[in-house]
Amino acid sequence: MKKITIAIDGFSSCGKSTMAKALAKKLGYVYIDTGAMYRAVTLFALRHQLFNADGTVKEKELKTLMPDIHIRFQLDPSTGNPRTFLNGECVEKEIRGMEVSQHVSPIAAIPFVREALVAQQQTMGKEKGIVMDGRDIGTTVFPDAELKIFVTASAQVRAQRRYDELKAKGMPADFDDILKNVQERDYIDTHREVSPLKKADDAVELDNSKLTIAEQDQWLYKQYLSHLPV
Ligand code: DC
Repeated sequence: MKKITIAIDGFSSCGKSTMAKALAKKLGYVYIDTGAMYRAVTLFALRHQLFNADGTVKEKELKTLMPDIHIRFQLDPSTGNPRTFLNGECVEKEIRGMEVSQHVSPIAAIPFVREALVAQQQTMGKEKGIVMDGRDIGTTVFPDAELKIFVTASAQVRAQRRYDELKAKGMPADFDDILKNVQERDYIDTHREVSPLKKADDAVELDNSKLTIAEQDQWLYKQYLSHLPV
């Protein structure tokens, strides 16, 4: 079977990575979570004190250090899930924490950071057989991807999912705070100057507000089958 490139873009907390990961597993494709790469650069910047007190980034210093940032993914042998490595260290847990989440937006808005990460993403996908999720995959990273999906769900639904997730883990959660955070991130993602989140003209849109994970996976697999080259 000919391998293709699958680009999955969409808003934060809309279940992109769950569906992307499941499809990659089913097809034996490589899965790349590009958000994890922006998060890893953010963790590096935090560790090297590259944020000013007002939350802006010390861009000159970061630019000098960019060649020292090496990100790679490796499958966890026990779960089969990919883990993110920063300069040889597994940082999967650290990059999901609150501190990184609160600092990642300004990092993802820096043009030289995007240029460097987009180039790495293009290298990772050059053999095809890849499912990549993010915000600009179908528009900037792989504009020629055979299958492009744009995932949406209402802010209310996404906030509710995050609320349920936190509660299930026994963590404190306030629905109104979460909804506000989801709406703020939507605004930042869609209004950024470089590569803002937007649907590629040839992307298939999926509003998964009312779908179960199983229904969503089935829908995606059908899309894959119908986008295979003849
Ligand atoms: O998908 P996520 O929440 O892990 O992404 C983290 C941040 O990185 C988020 O602020 C959006 C940004 N991002 C981006 O700008 N471009 C991508 N391709 C992926 C993520």
